[in-house]
Amino acid sequence: MSVWSHRHVLDLAAFSRADFAIVMELAHRFRSMPVTGARKLPALQGRLVATLFFEPSTRTRSSFELAAKRLSADVQSFSPSSSSLNKGESLLDTARTYVAMGADVLVIRHRCTDVPAQLAAELDEAGERTVVLNGGDGQHSHPSQGLLDLYTIANYFHRNHPQPNALQGKRIVIVGDVLHSRVARSNLWALSACGADVVLCGPPSLVPEAFSTFLEAPPPGQDLDPVHQRGKVQISRSLDECLSSADAVMTLRLQKERMTNHLLTDLDRYHRDYGLTHERLLRCSFSGPVLHPGPVNRGVEMSGALLDDRSICLVEDQVRNGIPIRMALLYLMAASEPVAESSRISASS
Ligand code: NCD
Repeated sequence: MSVWSHRHVLDLAAFSRADFAIVMELAHRFRSMPVTGARKLPALQGRLVATLFFEPSTRTRSSFELAAKRLSADVQSFSPSSSSLNKGESLLDTARTYVAMGADVLVIRHRCTDVPAQLAAELDEAGERTVVLNGGDGQHSHPSQGLLDLYTIANYFHRNHPQPNALQGKRIVIVGDVLHSRVARSNLWALSACGADVVLCGPPSLVPEAFSTFLEAPPPGQDLDPVHQRGKVQISRSLDECLSSADAVMTLRLQKERMTNHLLTDLDRYHRDYGLTHERLLRCSFSGPVLHPGPVNRGVEMSGALLDDRSICLVEDQVRNGIPIRMALLYLMAASEPVAESSRISASS
């Protein structure tokens, strides 16, 4: 049996299989609650959740804010363009301002790796009770996205009871710009922890060979891997080959804003080699679900027709599931009696 033990949520490398089970089970309960009538739960009444997004976001930010509101928290959102950052205030001093206003949770997104972890260390050192939830840092980690993707895939295979075991032995393909993707990295930790094998597919410029050992080093900041037996990671250059033996496929946006040199010159060729279409899925006899964390470049990562085909493409499910997943995280991190409550939400490892 296991109980929730994470003060901050910075990285899924630190999660055991039991941690994934706790979040999935709680999210499932939140998702199953009726959305009509009393939409709000009182769990975070009187708590303040501040969303500090130093990078653009549509889904993650709105989803965190809706999740916080559905738990009755007060929500304060920070927007860099109209803030005192323009007057030279540092990021840390900006965050301290929200702590001084009484923020219980800081959800932070930043283009630099480790900004959320540095902030969390600073708060711990200062003895503050405020906790940090990583909303995406650089190319490093995007825990809430990894969790909602995991939940969405598990729910596809085990409808009505999504749990880590639903992933055991599954073969999940992640295709595209893995190099720049914090989503791919968080998915690697999450899927492998639940026993899935992950195939990373793309050209060498976007999926370097070094990713084949990604899961071998101890997770960042830890001596021991909290997971006893992870699924494997493999690299492939042929999407057709991967698809013919895959259970699910996730495609990633080409992150041109993070590409320092011209890694891709020909988008038509990229679409031909690595784009998902109905024709390709049919040719490869692939009948599983297609996922994408969004935002999507229609006609590049996948055809517009596939993106709009809800019988195959789970993009809208991912967005929908993001709210209960983030409710679960906020609840576990900030509800008034987290220990008593989480011991009832326990799971076997
Ligand atoms: C992703 C991100 O910001 O890391 N989007 C998201 O959070 N849904 C992926 C991306 O920007 O391509």
